[in-house]
Amino acid sequence: MNKIAVYPGTFDPVTYGHLDVVERIASLYDKVYVSVAHSKQKKPLFSVSERVEMLKCSVKKFKNVEIEDFNGLVVDYAARKSARVVVRGLRMISDFEYEFQMALTNRKLNPDIETVFMMPNESYSYISSRLIKEAAYMGADLSAFVPENVQKKLKEKCSDE
Ligand code: COA
Repeated sequence: MNKIAVYPGTFDPVTYGHLDVVERIASLYDKVYVSVAHSKQKKPLFSVSERVEMLKCSVKKFKNVEIEDFNGLVVDYAARKSARVVVRGLRMISDFEYEFQMALTNRKLNPDIETVFMMPNESYSYISSRLIKEAAYMGADLSAFVPENVQKKLKEKCSDE
């Protein structure tokens, strides 16, 4: 049986914290779908295709990782991919309450799918896409937080606006 996992998120943009989680999942599962939620209600800075492209460029070295986008319920998407596991990264205890609610709601929606939590390396546990975007607008050096391709896209985007 192939072990398939879905790692969903908005990834606006992908950070070293997300990539650390991807690496951990890729070593545990046969196939990993890193899945970009459209998340229209969050008004992302980057379009779905930009977020997908940044991820594709950042995960090239993992042969069992595929990037896709999805709209609608994550449990429906996971079922379509024949995945029984949805992985979420847990950075700090402050993430927990929301993640707990989401995991239990997803379990109610589809009891066949389990949520697995994974902790990124502690050196990434404070990285937040929201703060990175804020720092990008102020012209900060983002090399500690996001890969080079993402730094470039952030620079372009923030000088556009
Ligand atoms: N407005 C704008 N941006 C917001 C926001 C809001 N109200 N709330 C959160 N964000 C941003 C933050 O910048 C945050 O990034 P950061 O914590 O790195 O700064 C980012 O969105 C992540 O938010 P979070 O909700 O923790 O995770 P996510 O967006 O990466 O993933 C999904 C959430 C996509 C997995 C989840 O929304 C989902 O499964 N959606 C599909 C629909 C579905 O199935 N819903 C039912 C779930 S029970």
